Amino acid sequence: QKKLKIGLFGFGCVGFGLYEVLQKTPGLKADIRKICVKNTDKEREIDPSNFTFDKNDLLNDDEINVIVELIDDADAAFEIVSSALKKGKAVVSANKKMIAEHFTELLELQREYGVPLLYEAACCASLPIIRNLEEYYDNDLLESIEGIVNGSTNYILTKTFAENLSYEAALLEAQQKGFAESNPILDTGGFDAKYKLQILLAHAFGFIAKPEALFNIGIDRIGKLELKYAKEKGLKIKLIAKAFKNTDGTVSAFVLPKFVHPENRLFSVDDVFNGVVTKTSFADEQFFVGKGAGAHPTASAVLSDISALGYDYKYEYKKIGQQQGLTLTDNIELDV
Ligand code: HSE
Repeated sequence: QKKLKIGLFGFGCVGFGLYEVLQKTPGLKADIRKICVKNTDKEREIDPSNFTFDKNDLLNDDEINVIVELIDDADAAFEIVSSALKKGKAVVSANKKMIAEHFTELLELQREYGVPLLYEAACCASLPIIRNLEEYYDNDLLESIEGIVNGSTNYILTKTFAENLSYEAALLEAQQKGFAESNPILDTGGFDAKYKLQILLAHAFGFIAKPEALFNIGIDRIGKLELKYAKEKGLKIKLIAKAFKNTDGTVSAFVLPKFVHPENRLFSVDDVFNGVVTKTSFADEQFFVGKGAGAHPTASAVLSDISALGYDYKYEYKKIGQQQGLTLTDNIELDV
């Protein structure tokens, strides 16, 4: 296992979570060498000597061989990540918006500079879905991938539905627990789920789709009528991200609130949990479930990526370029 010297960007909910998790994994040969933060005035939980406000202190430090990017701003994150890759530093990121918006450029940078970018934490937090899609499935076998990929909205839906909490109160709880994005419209409008779906699409089917090409409707569009209907019929409403192969070999993908029947595995995925169901020709159905947001569950995925870098793991992107054509909104099942 390679010795890793980490330059960490961001010390918010997940950044601090990673710090705590690393303290508890002494066997891992990885230390945080320096942390770059934006806010110069904020009181922090650890000694000020750990911090810098200048990104170049990390990017130009030759001792640092891994950059872990856990900041909020997707544009600033892309700057940091692309600079790090160009300097030959491996990168771990949890920034789904940044990865989804710059997928092609990030892929090219990895190939050009021969350094890996890992981002398991960007998709369903603790759920190891990207690595499974990368390594387990042959492209011909995977028929569909469907899931609850946003923890905040699942938490809100659970609380408003089962506990009759108001939408606003449930959203506030999701924010206070550190599940929601700093702009919660990204969660409630289905954008966060769409970024994750884009990442899943690339690893599951080899499609790189632009955010604007995928259809997303959020939970902010659900009304009292739908909730009443679901209750009467014994259903639940879940925000579903789905990508599936059509009979002609094309793939459709969308994010949409759907009524979910009790026999559907996703019916039991409540609170901040995420769940993903894959359907394949030979394995039939598989079901992944785990916490989809929060400091330690997200940090666990970052930790796993850091550990994997110690063994020179990288994504192979085997499926990219193998598929032809992508149909988007013309084949959506609006089934009840
Ligand atoms: N806001 C995101 C969610 C965080 O609620 O799922 C984890 O990606």
